[in-house]
Amino acid sequence: MKKNRNRKTSHISPEIEKKIQTYKHFGYKVPPLHIIRTPEQIEGIKASARINTGVLDCVAEHIREGMPTSEIDKIVYDYTVSHNAIPAPLNYEGFPKSVCTSVNQVVCHGIPSEKEILKNGDIVNVDVSTIYNGYYSDASRMFMIGEVSDEWKRLVEVTKECLEIGVAAAQPWSRLGDVGAAIQEHAEKNGYSVVRDLCGHGVGIKFHETPCVEHFGKRGTGMLIVPGMTFTIEPMINMGKYQVYIDEKDGWTVLTEDGLPSAQWEYTLLITETGNEILTW
Ligand code: MF3
Ligand code: CO
Repeated sequence: MKKNRNRKTSHISPEIEKKIQTYKHFGYKVPPLHIIRTPEQIEGIKASARINTGVLDCVAEHIREGMPTSEIDKIVYDYTVSHNAIPAPLNYEGFPKSVCTSVNQVVCHGIPSEKEILKNGDIVNVDVSTIYNGYYSDASRMFMIGEVSDEWKRLVEVTKECLEIGVAAAQPWSRLGDVGAAIQEHAEKNGYSVVRDLCGHGVGIKFHETPCVEHFGKRGTGMLIVPGMTFTIEPMINMGKYQVYIDEKDGWTVLTEDGLPSAQWEYTLLITETGNEILTW
């Protein structure tokens, strides 16, 4: 018998592939097979993710009032390269530094600077992404500097809850709209708004891959979530309105239009057959 060379042997188990095909038949948007990771890719992403978490732990140990955000950049660069890894933001589409530091009304993509000094009462997001052995990982945390007002503290805490609620909704065979809806409900119930213009993303083989993981939406819509997918959930939650704009001077910094503060937390997740695993936090 002749071998059929057109039949690609899949890296996915036949049961999972069959299940995907059944959902597809019933009209679901299903993930392209290349974003379902092989066991080898998963090991690679996990190794990258361990370094990424180490970077954020190192930032957590050193961040303090009076520190310029450029020093956070140095901590991230030094830790990453000393672990034989590369900071993914550096030179990414022209981004000039190794990490994003987003203070108060900066929503994301803030550029570290010697001129920006962390002061009492600030809330700052530090967003770290690592390339190790060609594999990508991505996570961010909020840090509160000195005495933060109760109102701002609550924004930081509710945003963390939004992430955890999103993680709980990111189950195999559920849908991305379930994740977005859960996050949006929690944010809005607390009087906050969800940024629309930026979303979570597939991550692992590249920095930003399909799918786009929106932090708002409707249950029962969006791409099917399948074991072997790796993606971020990273809600940006505004105290005021959801509208944002990009600073035209640097082309990167995203700010709230109303000048009110914004918070963000991010994990990279692996979807498993029984639930999910947080790979970096
Ligand atoms: N780390 C960001 C994310 O969560 C992306 C930053 S892109 C950069 O997706 F160029 F600004 F670093
Ligand atoms: Co991300």
